[in-house]
Amino acid sequence: MRTWQQAWSEALYGEGGFYRRVEGPAGHFATSTHGRAGELLADALLRLVDREGLRQVVDVGCGRGELLTALAASSRHTHPDLGLLGVDVVDRPAHLVPRIDWLVSPGGPDLPDLGTPTDTLVLAHEWLDVVPCGIARADGTGVLRTVCVDEDGGEHLGEPLADADSAWVARWWPGPHPPGAVVEVGRPRDEAFDRLVARTGSGLVVAVDYGHRAGTRPLHGTLMGYRTGSACPPLPDGSCDLTAHVAMDSLRSDAVRTQREMLRGLGVDGARPPVEQAHGDPAGYLAALSGASHAAALTGSGPGDFLWATRRVP
Ligand SMILES: C[S@@+](CC[C@H](N)C(=O)[O-])C[C@H]1O[C@@H](n2cnc3c(N)ncnc32)[C@H](O)[C@@H]1O
Repeated sequence: MRTWQQAWSEALYGEGGFYRRVEGPAGHFATSTHGRAGELLADALLRLVDREGLRQVVDVGCGRGELLTALAASSRHTHPDLGLLGVDVVDRPAHLVPRIDWLVSPGGPDLPDLGTPTDTLVLAHEWLDVVPCGIARADGTGVLRTVCVDEDGGEHLGEPLADADSAWVARWWPGPHPPGAVVEVGRPRDEAFDRLVARTGSGLVVAVDYGHRAGTRPLHGTLMGYRTGSACPPLPDGSCDLTAHVAMDSLRSDAVRTQREMLRGLGVDGARPPVEQAHGDPAGYLAALSGASHAAALTGSGPGDFLWATRRVP
């Protein structure tokens, strides 16, 4: 039996791993980077780019380039020179517009050489939740032990946590841990975020994910599978996504804010268009109404509770 962290890595990024499939993540679940929500997110990110005086966007863990495609469309006239670079574990998808560059990544916590981009918005949207981390469960005496798993999802308790993980738990997810309590040890996510910051020449690094902060840690663990649009039991056999919420406050960022706060600060407010517009400009009214409902979804409960960890690289 392997530890969950080992089995998870193999299942997502090994040969034939889940994220190497042609359909990509969008074939299995929707995120805020898809469809009309993705267009609104792209517009908000362009405002962030302007506010920070940046000239390139690097999207790490970009799926098949959905958000970059929205960024390319939105910025066509306003920011024609904005650089766009996608990073993911597969080759560059053929459908991307020529303006979008691409780098292949090893996957998980590892990154390729990004070329130390300067004046760049480096975005990682739902990357860290798929960086495998250690799963620990408290045994009958409250000692945290590494959880091991077989291909069928059967689990058993292994060794007590190694020192580095115990130190992380003591700092970020302190006990008492009652028997059966689960801790998802965020150290590999912290290190992955550090790596991303270290590979950024200058600009703003932003990790967006569902997660928790001290005081709101889950008691029973959040590891889940996703397959063809539905949640499923986490099976480390390459047939499904494997994801666990991120301890966002342990990342060495400057600030952690909710998506609601961030997007409202970037002008996404979900306000409905005035109803009088429906008479003079029915098509415009309907488009604005649809935009408003997507904006409300991005900032409402669920997506609005996503956390944005930001780190400025001078
Ligand atoms: C949950 S999906 C999110 C996709 C997209 N960002 C979105 O929000 O729809 C995670 C993506 O991260 C990619 N990924 C995982 N580790 C990576 C790494 N080290 N470098 C680049 N991409 C990575 C996966 O292949 C997958 O496409």
